[in-house]
Amino acid sequence: MTRTLITGGAGFIGSHACVEFVQTGQEVVVLDNLSNASLRSIHAVERITQKNIPFVEGDIRDADVLGKLFHDHEIDSVIHFAGLKAVGESVEQPLKYFDNNVNGTLRLIEAMTNAGVKTIVFSSSATVYGTPEHCPISESAPTGAVNPYGRSKLMVEQMLQDLFASDPAWRISLLRYFNPVGAHASGEIGEDPNGIPNNLMPYISQVAIGKLPFLRVFGDDYPTPDGTGIRDYIHVVDLARAHVQALKFLRREPRIAIHNLGTGQGYSVLDVLKAFETACGRKLPFEITDRRSGDVAESYADPTKANCELEWRAEFGIEKMCADSWRWQSSHPEGFAD
Ligand code: NAD
Ligand code: UD1
Repeated sequence: MTRTLITGGAGFIGSHACVEFVQTGQEVVVLDNLSNASLRSIHAVERITQKNIPFVEGDIRDADVLGKLFHDHEIDSVIHFAGLKAVGESVEQPLKYFDNNVNGTLRLIEAMTNAGVKTIVFSSSATVYGTPEHCPISESAPTGAVNPYGRSKLMVEQMLQDLFASDPAWRISLLRYFNPVGAHASGEIGEDPNGIPNNLMPYISQVAIGKLPFLRVFGDDYPTPDGTGIRDYIHVVDLARAHVQALKFLRREPRIAIHNLGTGQGYSVLDVLKAFETACGRKLPFEITDRRSGDVAESYADPTKANCELEWRAEFGIEKMCADSWRWQSSHPEGFAD
């Protein structure tokens, strides 16, 4: 039986995708170098699905590892999550990001070409829209990344577009995620950031569990209803399910397509804080501070194209995103180390 290779499948989004692929009856094999993940996430996926998940510890830049993987397994498609994602680190160490994200994807595509595998779903990001001219953002909006991480995503998108132009037998899905949050409803897998989180939801979760004293709200003077930044938070299980649909979409015919993955609904920082307070059952301390440099006032998707073409729609709202994040955080205060 053919398999789908899931690169970065031990990570936050990849582990949730493994669950959805296996639960829809598909065979997978995971490749992850564990640079930002624990093998315990794969064990948790096995508990949730009651299935053995073939796992290879290795790097997408390693041609030998990839050659062996494609030789040993009958792989017909790749869901490509592996990559680095910390914006601040990408500014300090840009070459590390271009090597991992751009060179890594190039090596992967070469190995796929050698193996005759021409179907790939790529994890892009709403960050490719830079500072959006208006919201909701549709796929035709101008792109323009503002940091090395964002540029690495745009470069890969462009590389895949050039590849398709040279060989239209490829099947390529470029998925631009908005703000993935939440966790699996089982409480077995979730986001496990290294050190102090940069992103809002894991930061609030750690305030709620008592690991951090209070939330810093980065600015309350944006031109938004309550003055705080607005984002399109999407439940990671909804996001994972979109990958199953994207692969179905590619199986219908060779093509390249871009889809926004968001709910289309924006929430402010204070909206999220309030929803999390409801989820954890107590008030959470916060302070208003200066804006974070590089942040935009608002960013939310027009998900119509994904709704129609992928036959997919985000189902879960902010209440469930917070409830599931809290279940994961409160049962695993130290993440997968617990
Ligand atoms: P994550 O760090 O939890 O997962 C990435 C996984 O890839 C990790 O398990 C890591 O160990 C692995 N990895 C990294 N470099 C590798 C390499 N060279 N070889 C093999 N494995 C490698 O991150 P995530 O949040 O699950 O993100 C998955 C993808 O989605 C990334 O490409 C990320 O840029 C993209 N994305 C994430 C977000 C977000 O907010 N989480 C938003 C938009 C796009
Ligand atoms: C981040 C990434 C971006 C990525 C996106 C989706 C940065 C600088 N940008 O942006 O590249 O595409 O996630 O995953 O990391 N906030 C606070 N206090 C905090 C943390 C955040 O007030 O401690 C606010 C922010 O100002 C923003 C909102 O919460 O208004 C969401 O922030 P965050 O979760 O970091 O996501 P993005 O800003 O969208």
